[in-house]
Amino acid sequence: MRMNISEIISKKRDGNSLSPDEISFAVREFTAERISDAQMAALAMAICIKDMNPEETACLTFEMLSSGETMHWPADSRPMVDKHSTGGIGDKVSLILAPLLACCGLSVPMISGRGLGPTGGTLDKLESIPGFNAELPLDEIRSIVEDFGCVITAASKTLAPADRKLYRLRDITGTVKSVPLITSSIMSKKLAEGLNALVLDVKCGTGAFMKSPEEATALAQSLVGTGKSMNVKTSALITDMNQPLGRMVGNAVEVNESMAALRGEGPKDLMEVTLALGGELMRLAGVAEDSNAGIATLAVKVSSGAGYEKFRHMIAAQGGDPDAKLAVADASEVLAEQAGFVSGIDAEQLGMAIIEMKGGRKQQGDKLDHSVGLEMLVRIGDKVEPSQPLVNLFAPDAMRKKIGEMIQSAIEFSDSPVAEPKLIIDKVT
Ligand code: URA
Repeated sequence: MRMNISEIISKKRDGNSLSPDEISFAVREFTAERISDAQMAALAMAICIKDMNPEETACLTFEMLSSGETMHWPADSRPMVDKHSTGGIGDKVSLILAPLLACCGLSVPMISGRGLGPTGGTLDKLESIPGFNAELPLDEIRSIVEDFGCVITAASKTLAPADRKLYRLRDITGTVKSVPLITSSIMSKKLAEGLNALVLDVKCGTGAFMKSPEEATALAQSLVGTGKSMNVKTSALITDMNQPLGRMVGNAVEVNESMAALRGEGPKDLMEVTLALGGELMRLAGVAEDSNAGIATLAVKVSSGAGYEKFRHMIAAQGGDPDAKLAVADASEVLAEQAGFVSGIDAEQLGMAIIEMKGGRKQQGDKLDHSVGLEMLVRIGDKVEPSQPLVNLFAPDAMRKKIGEMIQSAIEFSDSPVAEPKLIIDKVT
């Protein structure tokens, strides 16, 4: 039967399930550039609005995975593991965790993404390091993993190419927030890595695509179910994203904070989430008796400096200069205009402020300014006096007023004390 993409779009738009053949056709023809970006964006929008059932989601994931090659590792390789986040603000966990895991007898062939919507991208952050190459061919990915134990790179043209194309399109067409689209995007990349175990950080809150615990749980279940159906040991932590993770938000500033974290100077919340995800992954991979034992082993790799050295080696192996001083824009303070307790932070608005400063993209192909960013000086629950600095802003002079206003409007105050949000909300196994 001859298929037609506009009929497939209309079928989904009308709320019907798509058949495996229709999903296969859409992914295959889009990857081969016989379906236009406009048509695929329309299909993505129809999926966002009308959703997909678990069978359609599994089929979409499988087709996106099959759009490219899968990595195969020798039978005597160390366990292949990875961690992936659904996206947040100030989320630099991957930069810290990949080298730490590589110090613990595991291999981490991490395929990461660029910024998506208001959330920052691991690759954009790493590209603030002069010379760093995030676009490695498959044989180089393989040899860096074999030599150093970890690599952080983009989905190459041959690895999950359908996601590479669709991810960029979703970023600029309002089609990010969808359980089936996020599931297939993440899992197609992860399954292409030839993993034994995978831990997912499903972010929940103002700076996440999933704003409520219910939405985050639905996404976590979809991701974990898809991983297991493909024989990869998978679990998910649902973690708070009602304020940036750590203090820094941006590209160069987040690399600096990650390197400090690997030297044992990381903020408490960032370290707690990083180690919890790593401990869970070590349990899944069978190299730790339970996640607490994994956390203890990872903590030693921080205090010994082994993780920091591993990170430097990985950067150098990917062409980057680990000694380079990263350019950061001049700092100025954003001051509190009132007294009170910080009761809420619109983390998404902070992500939009970074995009406004060109630290993220408004359009496909936008060139980034890696030097802009911000440092949070307050967290939810903190008591603040008038004129107290709330944020250190790293921005060009001309942007300071506008971005300062965006930051002011993102932070809410209350007269009465406010409890700190719980950082690790739930676990889905
Ligand atoms: N991360 C991804 O790789 N894809 C998504 O769709 C969301 C987060």
